Amino acid sequence: MPAPAGRARHVLAATAVAVAGALAVGTAVAAPSPAEAGSTLGRLAAAKGRYFGSATDNPTLDNAPYTAVLGSEFNQITVGNTQKWQYTEPSRGQFDFTQADRIVAFAQAHDQVVRGHTLVWHNQLPDWVNDVPAGELLGVVRNHISAVAGHYRGQVVHWDVVNEAFEEDGTRRQTVFQQKIGDGYIAEAFKAARAADPHAKLYYNDYNIDGIGAKSDAVYEMVKSFKRQGIPIDGVGLQAHLILGQVPSTVEQNIRRFAELGVDVAITELDIRMRTPRDAAKDAQQAQDYRAVVNACLAVTRCVGITVWDFSDGYSWIPSVFPGEGAALIYDENFAKKPAYWAVYEALGGTVTTDPPAGCAATYRVTAQWHGGFQAEVTVRNTGTTATTGWTVRWTLAQGQAVRSLWNGVLATNGQEATVRNAPYNGRLAVGAATTFGFIGSSTGTNPVPAVTCATA
Ligand code: G3I
Repeated sequence: MPAPAGRARHVLAATAVAVAGALAVGTAVAAPSPAEAGSTLGRLAAAKGRYFGSATDNPTLDNAPYTAVLGSEFNQITVGNTQKWQYTEPSRGQFDFTQADRIVAFAQAHDQVVRGHTLVWHNQLPDWVNDVPAGELLGVVRNHISAVAGHYRGQVVHWDVVNEAFEEDGTRRQTVFQQKIGDGYIAEAFKAARAADPHAKLYYNDYNIDGIGAKSDAVYEMVKSFKRQGIPIDGVGLQAHLILGQVPSTVEQNIRRFAELGVDVAITELDIRMRTPRDAAKDAQQAQDYRAVVNACLAVTRCVGITVWDFSDGYSWIPSVFPGEGAALIYDENFAKKPAYWAVYEALGGTVTTDPPAGCAATYRVTAQWHGGFQAEVTVRNTGTTATTGWTVRWTLAQGQAVRSLWNGVLATNGQEATVRNAPYNGRLAVGAATTFGFIGSSTGTNPVPAVTCATA
């Protein structure tokens, strides 16, 4: 598929994200690289005839630091929620495209292609659909597809026509569509989508079909049979919601076998989750895992692109569904690029010209908060390959924040800029070792957690 060049824009520096709750945390890993000014994941992917994109959702479109990255780094966007049935046809025959239109407009304004997601799914389905009599449901499905894909005709490059229709053992999931219409509903959905938008490539999309196994075998057999019968399917979406250190070894082989059936493949919802908190070893494993997925896609010409399921750890679905897990994406919650970002960057052909990460990382935590004041603790960790002899942490004071008294470091402020250097006794950190400093602060506003940078002396 044609992949436009992403716009060359500078990504905003890591910016504070207000985290709900009394105790908030912000981390920044110092990984400055000349490569940062050189390219973006979108442009690198485009040079390889692919896209590299992100899912997004409506609430984050009002977050300027977030949209600065979303609009500049990627050349593809997936509508993460608001094209789903619940939003587009909340009551029978009443369609609402307001929210999804906003995301599509954002993508168009930033030269990004759009993957439509998703027309037929048992989840995020309004209750009324479950109550449609069996004899009417196919008509309702056709009408929904006709209206939604018709509305976006010419504006999406792919549609996830049917999502997650199989169980892990390869049998059909017993959804309302399966139970009331029967096996034929998937083929009917693809036919309706082709009629509604002849230009969009039509995808079947699922999770746990990334490697070879019972579930991906079932999808493979379905695609093979659709091809034989002339049912209009153009692609298979491998969601790739993966676990740290567990990228299936057969991803490339799996992509290749689908390609050989005559369909495209896309990695549609990539994230690689870990037990939180992150540390340097987990970050390194995650970078290796992301690299493996990108390499598997690049190895097969018909693997047309990769989408991360949002790009920042602050905006991932994982922590709410898998308690204790997260940090699954390529930017941290403060929009700092993680080692996984640089692994993708390199795998896509970019050159990382400095040693990542140089020296140290700092994590800022609000440990207590009261009206007008707070206590914070900053952990400084040596993430480099040699012992530090000193370190410097910087951040910007916002919304009336001030540092009143500080321990285990030497404070200097210049206007809004706070700089803390090591105390005489804690500048030396062995590789992987950490130290902390703390302070009492005052704040007249919401006391946002700042983005902190760390540099070694
Ligand atoms: O919009 C309401 C909001 O009004 C309400 O205050 C809030 C309270 O919980 O809920 C909001 O709705 C949430 C919605 O996301 C929008 O944020 C739902 O509770 C929540 O369940 C829903 O989760 C979405 C999930 O699909 C539903 O299954 C995730 O954001 C979305 O990322 C996720 O995406 C799916 C893909 O579509 C298919 N593949 C798996 C992937 C991850 O689950």
